Amino acid sequence: MPNTILIGAQWGDEGKGKIIDVLTDRADLVVRMQGGNNAGHTVLVGKKKYVLHLIPSGILRARKKCVIGNGVVIDPVHLVGEIEGLKKLGVDVKGNLFVSETAHIVFPYHRLLDEYREASKGKNKIGTTKRGIGPAYGDKAARTGIRMVDLMDPETFSALLKQRIKANNDILSPLGAKKLSFKKVLEEYLAAAKKLKPFVTDTVHMLHEASKNNANILFEGAQGTFLDIDHGTYPYVTSSATTSGGACTGSGVAPNKIDKVVGVMKAYTTRVGEGPMPTEDDFLGDHFHNMGREYGATTGRARRCGWLDAVLTRHATMVNGINELAITNLDGLDTLPVIKVCVGYRLGNKKIDRLPNAMGALEKCKPIYTEYPGWQTSTEKCRKWSDLPLNARRYLKEIAKLSGTRLKIASIGPARSQTIEL
Ligand code: IMP
Repeated sequence: MPNTILIGAQWGDEGKGKIIDVLTDRADLVVRMQGGNNAGHTVLVGKKKYVLHLIPSGILRARKKCVIGNGVVIDPVHLVGEIEGLKKLGVDVKGNLFVSETAHIVFPYHRLLDEYREASKGKNKIGTTKRGIGPAYGDKAARTGIRMVDLMDPETFSALLKQRIKANNDILSPLGAKKLSFKKVLEEYLAAAKKLKPFVTDTVHMLHEASKNNANILFEGAQGTFLDIDHGTYPYVTSSATTSGGACTGSGVAPNKIDKVVGVMKAYTTRVGEGPMPTEDDFLGDHFHNMGREYGATTGRARRCGWLDAVLTRHATMVNGINELAITNLDGLDTLPVIKVCVGYRLGNKKIDRLPNAMGALEKCKPIYTEYPGWQTSTEKCRKWSDLPLNARRYLKEIAKLSGTRLKIASIGPARSQTIEL
């Protein structure tokens, strides 16, 4: 398999975990390059369900090397919990997991700041996962962050942490937060450091060597294009580069080593948290929630649901350079008589076919829909393209065309076998 970046083409939760799991079969290395434990990838292997937050889902395959790259923000205590959780399920990560020395660390004060900032925004809150992701990336950009390499050296770590706890207590105390104990955080993080030491390494050189030896690298994106700090629906975004460019900066693998970008999108749209979503539709939300679908893997929140928005997915193709599309959750639409797709927006008295950037403009956009006949047949047992009902095939081809790229994979259920490759 050529070196491949896999990213979400919508607002996250596109079913990337499952597609990554399928593609991992052909990869030697799987790399996470951004985000933190705000992400949640649910993977089904046989009857076992795994939810991974920091460790690439490739870890579930024997002999696949998994890297948590420099662009990720790591909560070390959470990471230890994830490693131990996997062990209990019979997955030993030793020898297969590599954690970047230069990845930044998430601390309890980041989570507190996340919570206080959200509360202070009132009705303009972002609806974050409260995992401290924004404040951790904020510290990285402000050059006040602490990295994994620092954590590996107790003396350096202790000195840096003391200073950071003091500075953050000074900010948080006037807001009513209980002061964080330097000693307690130090003990907790050094205990995690001991357990993580065997995994922490210079992943940039490791990936470079692997690439020189023709290893196939799969980059596992977290969240989705419209949560990107630059290209998303700002300010209702996460704090990392979720688009394909982030794979290079977040791993140290150069752009000329990338061969392919696979975009993953649902056959409809979902979003968690606040922010504009032109095609949001209560009927569709009830439809999925009544089926027990569309609840977040990390926070358990009910996702907002809407029709496929091709203005967005076209934009995603452009900013990510998507060569191949994987469309997931097609089966969610199986019972519907009519399926709508947004092909443009009405903004005031103007028709537009691209994403407006001005603050508040997307909220005012009214979708212009094209309607497609449904197939009203279960697709979950389909195993090849020709098994799919004709209207389902037409719908898939049409939304790939509207998204400006080529359909490669259709997914009709959570199991590995429910994947159709074209
Ligand atoms: P944060 O990443 O926790 O700061 O949250 C910022 C926004 O990104 C919120 O709207 C979250 O709901 C959303 N978000 C973060 N991670 C995910 C994810 O993995 N899937 C979907 N939405 C996410």
